[in-house]
Amino acid sequence: MIKTAEYIKRRQQLMKIAGKHSITLLSSRSELLRNGDVHHYYRQDSDFYYLTGFNEPDAILVLIPSESGHQHVIFCREADPKKVMWDGPMIGTQGAIDDFGFDAAYDIKEIDRRLPLLIQGCEKICFKIGENDEFDQRLAGWVKSIESRKGQKSNIPEEFMSISHVIHDMRLYKSHAEIKCMKKAADIAAAAHIKMMQNCQPDAYEYELQAHYAYHLTQNQSHSSYPPIIGSGENGNILHYINNDQQMHDGDLVLIDAGAEYDFYASDITRTFPVNGRFSPRQKDLYEVVLQAQLDAIEQVKIGKHWNEFHDAAAKTISQGLLDLKILKGNLAQVLEEKTYANYYMHMTGHWLGLDVHDVGDYRVDDLWVELEENMVLTVEPGLYISEQANVPQEWRGMGIRIEDDIQVTKKGPVVLSCNAPKTISAIEQTMKG
Ligand code: GLY
Ligand code: MN
Ligand code: MN
Repeated sequence: MIKTAEYIKRRQQLMKIAGKHSITLLSSRSELLRNGDVHHYYRQDSDFYYLTGFNEPDAILVLIPSESGHQHVIFCREADPKKVMWDGPMIGTQGAIDDFGFDAAYDIKEIDRRLPLLIQGCEKICFKIGENDEFDQRLAGWVKSIESRKGQKSNIPEEFMSISHVIHDMRLYKSHAEIKCMKKAADIAAAAHIKMMQNCQPDAYEYELQAHYAYHLTQNQSHSSYPPIIGSGENGNILHYINNDQQMHDGDLVLIDAGAEYDFYASDITRTFPVNGRFSPRQKDLYEVVLQAQLDAIEQVKIGKHWNEFHDAAAKTISQGLLDLKILKGNLAQVLEEKTYANYYMHMTGHWLGLDVHDVGDYRVDDLWVELEENMVLTVEPGLYISEQANVPQEWRGMGIRIEDDIQVTKKGPVVLSCNAPKTISAIEQTMKG
């Protein structure tokens, strides 16, 4: 749980960067209609949530640094007794002040009248330029209304600054409270993976495992952080497989990429295991290559290392493994140079993780890979995918293997937040036997 004081601190930090005489404006995500009068589950825009903890649509955050202290203002829906009767509690303007640390809160219906008065006299408007056409147009209207009211241009801000990159850079560094949420999200997903291992058996369907996963998440006030992938046999080679509707066969592997979202923070875990609970010799061979690649990559998740280094470590171990198993020909230098390993390992080794599963933040700055710093969190997820059509001996075909963990960069080295999900061959076989 992130405390109100932390949201206030984030807003203050943002205002400091935005500078004196600025006004920062950020819009909430709109509700999305599914069909008829049914909406999708509402989930706040992650940047907006990061700065407010406020999970309702029709809200606009306004930040105005001032001499007499920062001003935190929100326009939001007023609590409407009729709507409360149908849909349940609403935060309302008083709730925004009482529980979310705002100095002032106004009914969103008053925004066209009030916001121009707040913008007037500021020198710079900071917002997410070009990301929301409707908002951009409304902003142009608010600025124009100052002009037409006053008839003098000097009251109109002349500078516009994009604020997305600033917020995304802040989100890269996780606080203690954020790490706690992410650990909890990882623990919930890890336990769900254990449930799926324990309930897996030949002839069951992929969706039966998904049901165990969903049950465990729901029981823990969590839900999936992305549509889960439960791919048995050849389906494990489809990177974005989400149908999860096939029967699982004795002798096949099943690849499960399934995470949890807890208190808005994501985990992202992949495990691969044999449907019948025992790795075959060929499955063991390939699995050990991916596991070693993952361990070698995790070793590189250290302060001062660059973003590419853990991918390079994984690619090197994968390549050597494929050579040792005679799946690839040539020598290591050649395989790495020509990237022939990419026939079987075609994605990068990780991504930032946080409020979004593929979280915001730069990977490169001015052609240089980003350097890892304390309390950044990322995934490490090498894989090997050998399809039925692959030009390799039959014994290797039809295996898709990925192992994915969530790693916190710390002064003491990499901390595996998802460590509770079994991943060695013996730990997996033991879990499945249990
Ligand atoms: N589950 C999405 C990913 O691993 O990137
Ligand atoms: Mn991932
Ligand atoms: Mn994943």
